[in-house]
Amino acid sequence: MPVQSFVYNSAPQRVVFGAGSLQHLAREIDALGARRALVLCTPEQRAQAERVADMLGAHAAGVFDRAVMHVPIETAREARDVAQRLGADCAVAIGGGSTTGLGKAIALDSGLPILAIPTTYAGSEMTPIYGITEAGMKKTGKDFKVLPRTVIYDPELSMSLPVGMSVTSGINAIAHAAEGLYATDANPIMDLMAQEGIAALGRALPAIRASAEDAGARSDALYGAWLCGTVLGNVGMALHHKLCHTLGGSFNLPHAETHTIVLPHALAYNAAAASGAMARIAKALGASNAAQAVFDLARDNGAPVALRDIGMKESDLDVACAHALQNQYPNPRPLERDAIRALLQNAWEGVRP
Ligand SMILES: NC(=O)c1ccc[n+]([C@@H]2O[C@H](COP(=O)([O-])OP(=O)(O)OC[C@H]3O[C@@H](n4cnc5c(N)ncnc54)[C@H](O)[C@@H]3O)[C@@H](O)[C@H]2O)c1
Repeated sequence: MPVQSFVYNSAPQRVVFGAGSLQHLAREIDALGARRALVLCTPEQRAQAERVADMLGAHAAGVFDRAVMHVPIETAREARDVAQRLGADCAVAIGGGSTTGLGKAIALDSGLPILAIPTTYAGSEMTPIYGITEAGMKKTGKDFKVLPRTVIYDPELSMSLPVGMSVTSGINAIAHAAEGLYATDANPIMDLMAQEGIAALGRALPAIRASAEDAGARSDALYGAWLCGTVLGNVGMALHHKLCHTLGGSFNLPHAETHTIVLPHALAYNAAAASGAMARIAKALGASNAAQAVFDLARDNGAPVALRDIGMKESDLDVACAHALQNQYPNPRPLERDAIRALLQNAWEGVRP
């Protein structure tokens, strides 16, 4: 097919990738022109953050270990105040999307540069999208101030991510690439990245399931996460991300698991309206049907495939469907109430699409 018209923006961002690349941290802080870094983490990753602070020596302002899911505004304000009190001139976020999200919330108000060290495959480090929760409502927005200036991808740091979380986090990444392939603002560069990212994760996840410390597989998965995160940061998402946002926000379902369960059904919903994207996803996974290939990748690697198994009540499906239809947004297939209700039922039951 000849190349169609497109608009392509490239964001100024530095990526340092490779096993052991954490050793370059001090050099990278210096390259940002910063002198004192506040290290951010969740309570669970305190030990990793302390290792980072030790590596920085006098250039570490301290460790703030209270990152949690959904970035409560109180936590963001507290972290920003701590950064100010300690005289930090940059923040290092080591962890998954929740920790990167806290870094973004600090950057939004203060303009502090963020250096991200991702340890999951969520991809937030490659996007200018932030989310902050105030009075129980998660507000999301887009601002290039929050895009981490530097990202250090060190696959060794993801070895400790439990296999179950690795598989769901990897499929969360695949979701960004899959929807990027049928985005209204898709472009050929993102298509290449999306297909390569899905392929890298498709081969990495079964290998990680076989051995969590398979260095090659951890590298492949993080490389895939980088590519898929870049797609998320560059083009618009559609029905799948809308459904997951609704399900996570309204019913407090876990982020990566929800993406894993919903994706095959969202792809099946859009299949006939986005045949080119489906062909690329299927090819990347070495299969003939994109939706089934994603379902099989999850099921065969021990991930949950039914919303009922992660705490969703069947009686909430009607409300979820109504929320998903509240605002119109671009999607290859028009939003049809009965078909979306059926999609949610299938995802709740865990049927293979
Ligand atoms: N703004 C964006 O562009 C964007 C993109 C993707 C995700 N997100 C957000 O990120 C959040 C989800 O991020 P997530 O899925 O990475 O989970 P997470 O950051 O909430 O991490 C889940 C748990 O895993 C732990 N963990 C992370 N890496 C580990 C490792 N290597 N070893 C052991 N434990 C580890 C964390 O400390 C935490 O306890 C959601 O709130 C989502 O909305 C935002």
